[in-house]
Amino acid sequence: MERFFRKERLIDREKEIEFLRGWFDKVPKEILWLYGPKSSGKTTLIEYVIENELFEDFWGLKYRGNFWVRYINLRGYLITSYKSFLEAFIKPEGEGSKRLREEERLDARMALGIFEIKASILNKVRERHRDLFNVLISEIQRIARDRRVILIIDELQTLEDIYINDKRELLKEFLNFCVRITKELHIAHCLIISSNTIFIKRIFNDARLKVTSEFYRVGHLSRGITMRWLDDEGIGVYERDLIWEYVGGCIPLIQRILSKMGEMKALGGIDEYLKQEAFRAYAQIVDALIRSKSKHIELVFKKISEKILKDGFYLCKSDDYDEMNVIERFAENEILFYDPLNLQVTGSNRLYERGMEILLRE
Ligand SMILES: Nc1ncnc2c1ncn2[C@@H]1O[C@H](COP(=O)(O)OP(=O)(O)O)[C@@H](O)[C@H]1O
Ligand SMILES: [Mg+2]
Repeated sequence: MERFFRKERLIDREKEIEFLRGWFDKVPKEILWLYGPKSSGKTTLIEYVIENELFEDFWGLKYRGNFWVRYINLRGYLITSYKSFLEAFIKPEGEGSKRLREEERLDARMALGIFEIKASILNKVRERHRDLFNVLISEIQRIARDRRVILIIDELQTLEDIYINDKRELLKEFLNFCVRITKELHIAHCLIISSNTIFIKRIFNDARLKVTSEFYRVGHLSRGITMRWLDDEGIGVYERDLIWEYVGGCIPLIQRILSKMGEMKALGGIDEYLKQEAFRAYAQIVDALIRSKSKHIELVFKKISEKILKDGFYLCKSDDYDEMNVIERFAENEILFYDPLNLQVTGSNRLYERGMEILLRE
């Protein structure tokens, strides 16, 4: 089925859209975590689903059926304290709704990020006399009487290291809140998205969260789907294979190549262009190695790279502290991707693996 998202073609995601549709139709019982390497298309997927599956008319803010959705991408906010977190999401009911109506027309996405609560209650929350999450739970309880409530948070790791007060960690309280509304009260779906798998790993290894969570991976496109897409775009067999060898199924990288197909000759041909792209990935790896200022880290990284190139992935034995340290460092800067569920480490996309090849040839 051909789908469009904001006037451009949406590539594939049939399986993922089907999965999410099914998930939201069920009674909420677990938190759903969407994870996958940087730029695999998580945000695009969820925004597509919100705009086309959860809304009948998104820009007019008309929900489909009895859905009621709140969606926040924390990347768009500078959240440095509990106070700035509150300011981003909660607006007092009266004053808020007037401003909201104008904003709604301007940007439905902004409006979806806002919870409205009574001004008097909001003041108590601000002064820490009332607990924010208890207030939100009562609010959701009220809405959930005749609606299917869905909360979606992208880039949740942004809340790490923020404290409500000396003793209370915002992220922890937020996750407790998610467990309460899903597993315990069944009043709302809670979907959390993150590229940061070191963060996901911590969650995955937290006994309480593990039993209350489902993890769903959104990866790069498969070879078959990538080939079909390139074929549709009129790309010949030789170029198709070459593109797959260099960038695999990474959608934005393929889009960039496609946008340059017209000027490929001027760029020295597609072989040359892709080689240069691989060199850029290599340069980024070298830069990260230099920054580490450690010959030992370099050796471990090379050992991991060798294995990835040979077997397609490196199996991470997390009892090896040295290795884990290097993997975490390179996953944090998104050169490596670490899947906490099957413990496989790969390049964040295939281009980095081409970069590793150059590194090992030095
Ligand atoms: N299914 C898709 N169809 C078309 N373009 C996509 C698709 N998925 C991702 N993209 C493109 O790739 C870019 C990166 O995707 P994004 O959703 O931001 O990745 P992530 O959130 O996983 O880091 C987007 O800006 C979009 O242009
Ligand atoms: Mg994203």
